[in-house]
Amino acid sequence: MCGIVGYVGGREAANVIISGLHRLEYRGYDSAGLAVIHPDGVLDVFKCKGKVDDLERFLQGKNAGGTIGIGHTRWATHGEPSDANAHPHLSRSGDLALIHNGIIENYRVLRDALRTQGFTFRSSTDSEVLVNLIEYVRDEHRCSLEEAVREALSQVVGAYAIAVIERGDTSRIIAARKSSPMAIGVGDGEYFLSSDAASIIGFTQDFVYLNDGEIAVIERGKPLHIMTLDGAESPVAIQKLRLSISQLEKGGFDHFMLKEIHEQPETLEDCIRGRVIPGTREVILSGVLDNKERFLAARRIIFVACGTSWHASLIGEHLIESMCRIPVEVEYASEFRYRDPVIYPDDIVIAVSQSGETADTLAAVGMARKAGAFVYGICNVVGSSIPRATHSGTYIHVGPEIGVASTKAFTGQVTVMAMMALLIGRLKGTIDEGYYHRVAQAILELPATIREALKTAPEVASLARMFTYAHNFIYLGRGYNYPTALEGALKLKEISYIHAEGLPAAEMKHGPIALIDAEMPTVAIATPDSTYEKTLSNIEEIKARGGKIIAVVCKGDDLVRRSADYCIEVPSTVECLMPVVSIVPLQFLSYYIATYKGRNVDQPRNLAKSVTVE
Ligand code: M6R
Repeated sequence: MCGIVGYVGGREAANVIISGLHRLEYRGYDSAGLAVIHPDGVLDVFKCKGKVDDLERFLQGKNAGGTIGIGHTRWATHGEPSDANAHPHLSRSGDLALIHNGIIENYRVLRDALRTQGFTFRSSTDSEVLVNLIEYVRDEHRCSLEEAVREALSQVVGAYAIAVIERGDTSRIIAARKSSPMAIGVGDGEYFLSSDAASIIGFTQDFVYLNDGEIAVIERGKPLHIMTLDGAESPVAIQKLRLSISQLEKGGFDHFMLKEIHEQPETLEDCIRGRVIPGTREVILSGVLDNKERFLAARRIIFVACGTSWHASLIGEHLIESMCRIPVEVEYASEFRYRDPVIYPDDIVIAVSQSGETADTLAAVGMARKAGAFVYGICNVVGSSIPRATHSGTYIHVGPEIGVASTKAFTGQVTVMAMMALLIGRLKGTIDEGYYHRVAQAILELPATIREALKTAPEVASLARMFTYAHNFIYLGRGYNYPTALEGALKLKEISYIHAEGLPAAEMKHGPIALIDAEMPTVAIATPDSTYEKTLSNIEEIKARGGKIIAVVCKGDDLVRRSADYCIEVPSTVECLMPVVSIVPLQFLSYYIATYKGRNVDQPRNLAKSVTVE
């Protein structure tokens, strides 16, 4: 988490940094700061607790002039949000300023060692230890800043993306990364630095992505110089990032989350384009086709993911098992990586991640590769760490997702999984042609189906107002829609802070039904599928105990209507794609409840968009 930005060139660094930090605020928003070197070589730091807007206010009337600087927006790991713990951190002498994203695991040992050398610390962060370690090495070895950074990092255990500047040096930034993202934007006589290339797309479209264990010397007017921690030269490969600024703005909506819910018809069009061919209904996914033999020979598929991506993976399990007859397991990446799991060389491990930066998922990828499995990625952010660490993969191509609550990424992930399952099932001969074409056609129609589902917004908004009082919610679903229930509950929890539990409907009888009373609303997904009748019985059981029921049903349903208190009608599609449709009113429900409760929907408390720490 945390977002870092840097600039060296001919512009006012503070302006570039503030603009980048605003776009990076999704990564953390408990404090912000920047450091600049004035033209006379003086190094100044400005930082405060709060958001980037607070930092801007703090800067008013102060001299932050200079054409080189670094900035940071923080999500606290070590040390509470405070002015002192905000980045940049200065070294003891005030010669060096550093920003850091990640965790230095051995910071206590390093801090104790530095204390014996007379160092004192103003903050409780691991990052301040690192900047002092760099200064200590620089002074002990009388070496250059890049050499000091390299030597200091060789003593560090943990994850980092860092940028350091040095008093008196108005032209160079030293940056390095291990397990935390870092992109260098290349402009005309200027360089930009960011945790997320999209944050500086307004300045350049040319990027160099640092690899793990690399250090960059970024110097105004000179070619980029990248080397490994061992001192070997690294090639500098510039990649174009095709994004438009409008994709990073709210486009007239009150919140990014609302915009992202509404843009799902278009994002699904982008996701499907060129992959399911209208007319022939052929599915073409180069990541699968180029590795056809691997998929045909797979003994097992293991999904590794976190949060919403884990929920999408549970749907992937249904899709692949039913269409491809390959056994599937779905693992929380954080559990998988610490469990010494059995991984066979003929397993396929699929890492699912919107950001492509989730630390646990990235670590699971590393582990699976080590064990010899073929590792496939389903990610959104192009050029992020997971796609670069996997053997192959498919991007969901839904564009930047900025709201902390994931919405369009979920529908994109499930759509990609459906395309993969169809393609593999056809290659294996485990589905018949009729079914293949029916599902392929339904995928082509998904954008229109979602457009229809979006029309539920006003009705869901008024239901949300009625249920804003609730302190707890239960979400029920079965089969394909059990993960939808989990996802609906997660959406509500994370942005409204209402406790919500997603359950397979039949599990109610095994305990949770004891929770039912007039104060406990249940959201039941009861679309017509192979378990429809059974879900109906589960709804009856709740009704009989005085529970209030909001049901998501397909248009024309009148059976559920007899028992449920409120019904939200969505258009129908094939059973395996129903989650993509039935999640839409649940996204709205959480959004409207949260806004009626006055929550900060795009920046909910304690959360950050990318979880790049364990
Ligand atoms: O970027 P990822 O998909 O790897 O992120 C995984 C989770 O952190 C993420 O889905 C999180 O649960 C969202 N805030 C849910 O809305």
